[in-house]
Amino acid sequence: MKFLREVKKEKIKGKTCLLRLDLNIEKNELKDSLRLERAAESTRFLLKIGCRVVILSYKGQLDIGKVQRDKFYRRSYSLRPVTRELSRKLRQSIDFVDDLNPKNWERKVNQSKRRIVVLENLRFYGEENKNSIPFAHLLASLGDFYVNDAFSMSHRQQTSLCAITRFLPSYAGIGLEKELVSLNHVLKNYKKPLVLVLGGAKVSDKAGVIENLYPKTKHILCGGGVANTFLFSQNIPVGNSLVDRKIASQNIYNRFKNKIILPSDVVIKSGAILDIGPKTTDEYSRLIKKAGTIVWGGPMGHFEDKKFAKGTFEIAKTILKSKCFAVIGGGETTTAFRKVARMDADQNADKRRYISDNLRRNQRKSASVFLSTGGGAMLEYLAGRKLPALQALDDSNMRM
Ligand code: 3PG
Repeated sequence: MKFLREVKKEKIKGKTCLLRLDLNIEKNELKDSLRLERAAESTRFLLKIGCRVVILSYKGQLDIGKVQRDKFYRRSYSLRPVTRELSRKLRQSIDFVDDLNPKNWERKVNQSKRRIVVLENLRFYGEENKNSIPFAHLLASLGDFYVNDAFSMSHRQQTSLCAITRFLPSYAGIGLEKELVSLNHVLKNYKKPLVLVLGGAKVSDKAGVIENLYPKTKHILCGGGVANTFLFSQNIPVGNSLVDRKIASQNIYNRFKNKIILPSDVVIKSGAILDIGPKTTDEYSRLIKKAGTIVWGGPMGHFEDKKFAKGTFEIAKTILKSKCFAVIGGGETTTAFRKVARMDADQNADKRRYISDNLRRNQRKSASVFLSTGGGAMLEYLAGRKLPALQALDDSNMRM
């Protein structure tokens, strides 16, 4: 894999970089998003060298038919709001290309006078999910070289992450490099006992991790959609709670139940489980306090509503206060953790260091934390899988 940081600046100065970022950020997270911070850092780095930047990303898992016929649906998944926030952060005007015909993109990008251009959500086009060679070829015509700084999407085999690397000199960006260094550190130096905390909506992202990390793990504490799915698979009624029926039918819980811990009480509203209950929170906190390493992906409930935030926030607080080493990943989970860390820092100046997203070795025997932008990607990487977009960077042999 070639790293952007190692490329001679003279080689890329004045060139156009196709920069792949993770702009899959919910509107309510825009004001305090680790992903947006990393995106800004990565763009700034290229601007400083003297490159022009064309940003590619996607948002949501979309129904293509609906994308084509429903403009309100398109609007709700548009990258326009995140582009506005990025522009504010960078104090730079950005051109936004939302032409629905990809054949017009090259002309629009070339006509733009701005140093940064963002393309509309690539998942508006079915070809993005197909790792399509013609679509990759079209995207590649928009730049001189390619940088992947979307670690958190690198577990997906998508055109703008994989196929594109066949057509342009391709590099791992500064954010991606930071993720790899930090996660490799965890893989090599993790302290036992390892406790996995899994929640959130994307249950299928977590199923493989249970299988792969099971031998190393002492406990697997479940909340959110992961817990609902396992409860459902045990024929325990979960009402209209979020459940992944495909995963529920795969017998995962029975295979790994020796280590999986499910909530013993939950918070329910309108027939749906929206948080873990107080007894479960206490039990999970007790086990977290004894852990040497925590890997946490996915919130315990619908924490965006403060009535259902208690479980997630308590887990975050316990990690902050514990002596373990923690890796916390995913858009929502890192947002929740940073919120708690900030509240804590207001009361206790000594805790300010946790707000940083850097890996910190802590001499004073309390937790050190690495915040990863990746949810599914982080878990898959820690489970030892080769992520498709990282493999594509490894395989790419185009030179500048
Ligand atoms: C994430 O939120 O995990 C990444 O942005 C990837 O999004 P995806 O699961 O929709 O591919």
